[in-house]
Amino acid sequence: MRHVGIVYGSSTGNTRDVSEKLYEVVGPENSDLLNVAEIDPHVLEEFDNLILAVSTWGRGDLQDDWEAFFPQFDELNLSRINVAVVALGDQRNYPANFADALAVLVDKAAERGANIVGKTDPEGYTFDASAAVREGRFLGLVLDEDTQSSLTEARIREWVEQLKRQFV
Ligand SMILES: Cc1cc2nc3c(=O)[nH]c(=O)nc-3n(C[C@H](O)[C@H](O)[C@H](O)COP(=O)(O)O)c2cc1C
Repeated sequence: MRHVGIVYGSSTGNTRDVSEKLYEVVGPENSDLLNVAEIDPHVLEEFDNLILAVSTWGRGDLQDDWEAFFPQFDELNLSRINVAVVALGDQRNYPANFADALAVLVDKAAERGANIVGKTDPEGYTFDASAAVREGRFLGLVLDEDTQSSLTEARIREWVEQLKRQFV
């Protein structure tokens, strides 16, 4: 597997913490960990594989730093890049918009030409509606640090095994 860029935006630290865990599991020798609030957007084009990590705010909106970054996607060509998105949400308090931010980033990355990988099974989560589900699958990985944090490490480990098969 070639180098992986892990790019996160986090308001209260949860997405930062899970991104640090991802970095540890992918392996620091294989990856770079970057805060979206601090990067030149074109850095994303330098990777063969990207993990974009976001939390969901408002009612299904992107976390603020990703929101600020979002218009700059339109300058990027992601056409040879494998992109996997992980989104955080809270299924108990936001059951009608659970982890919706996942879909916002996936759709934008796909529009910029990325090859989207890392879809997962929504079994084991309880919610009413989520834009992150399409054709019965989450468009990436969904983590819930508010109500299912004890499941996070296993979910990350399983997802990274999947990504090792899907990344170049
Ligand atoms: C004001 C507020 C709005 C939120 N809106 C949503 C939402 O619409 N959907 C969802 O799944 N989670 C929502 N959440 C939960 C956050 O996504 C969750 O707490 C996440 O772990 C925060 O990650 P961060 O600390 O990296 O920003 C919301 C949380 C707060 C405090």
